[in-house]
Amino acid sequence: MAQASYDEIADWYNESIRTNMLMHDLDFPPIFDLLGDVRGQRICDLACGQGVLSRLLVERGAEVVGVDLSAKMLEFARHAEEAEPLGIVYLQDDAHTLTTLDDASFDGVLCNFALTDIPDLKATFQSVKRILRPLGWFIFSITHPCFLTPLSGWLTEADGVIHRTVRGYFNEKFWQSDNPHGVRGKVGAYHRTLSTYINTLAEAGLLLERLIEPQTTRDRDVRKGYSEVPALFVAKCRHIANPDGVRHVRETNQLSTGS
Ligand SMILES: C[S@@+](CC[C@H](N)C(=O)[O-])C[C@H]1O[C@@H](n2cnc3c(N)ncnc32)[C@H](O)[C@@H]1O
Repeated sequence: MAQASYDEIADWYNESIRTNMLMHDLDFPPIFDLLGDVRGQRICDLACGQGVLSRLLVERGAEVVGVDLSAKMLEFARHAEEAEPLGIVYLQDDAHTLTTLDDASFDGVLCNFALTDIPDLKATFQSVKRILRPLGWFIFSITHPCFLTPLSGWLTEADGVIHRTVRGYFNEKFWQSDNPHGVRGKVGAYHRTLSTYINTLAEAGLLLERLIEPQTTRDRDVRKGYSEVPALFVAKCRHIANPDGVRHVRETNQLSTGS
């Protein structure tokens, strides 16, 4: 099993979610937009952390299994379940394999802010595909891979105009932010290009269906630059039965265009 780095920061992370978290503030609206009506659906909250989304899904009528690698994050989730029983089952498992979960046993899988914590994207998408029923959905949110690269930052001109500066986009690697107060300064992250995400999804048989890049409004009390470039990339994909079909279409297109 991969190492559970969140065990080290579970108290801090749980507290930062309870008090205020900019990224949750930004990504819950697009996530619930993409989810639509989840009543009666069986959903896996993959890398559920302390279970904040698991509980919101149950409130909307879903049956939820929350899975996380970190025993300490799961302790917070289970305490919340004990305090207010909602019927959520929490399991300790690794996204790469999901050995505790049966094939084709979920209508949907939601993975919020965790793919950049997970080393092997291909293995993770294959596990997601395996536990989804045919035509089941997969929704994930990540910090935007084009704008939040290891060498990105803000540049503010004298007149207040804000620019996002980006370097190192093509250098896929594990990195750690130099901000010791943020989650990426504490546990680091895997940077990957957008094409790696999209192509790995396609190869696993998860077809990209819809995408939201949320924009903040400048009057909100958040980083104003996120009204210029998106902080997040929120995607909805669909389990398709035959990924070879996608590959075949791609190859046929290449042959016909000669590229
Ligand atoms: C940034 S937190 C997000 C938690 C939760 N989804 C949320 O929105 O608050 C990332 C989570 O991914 C979990 N995680 C990291 N690697 C994992 C893996 N290989 N399998 C399962 N969970 C993993 C961590 O333990 C942590 O709880």
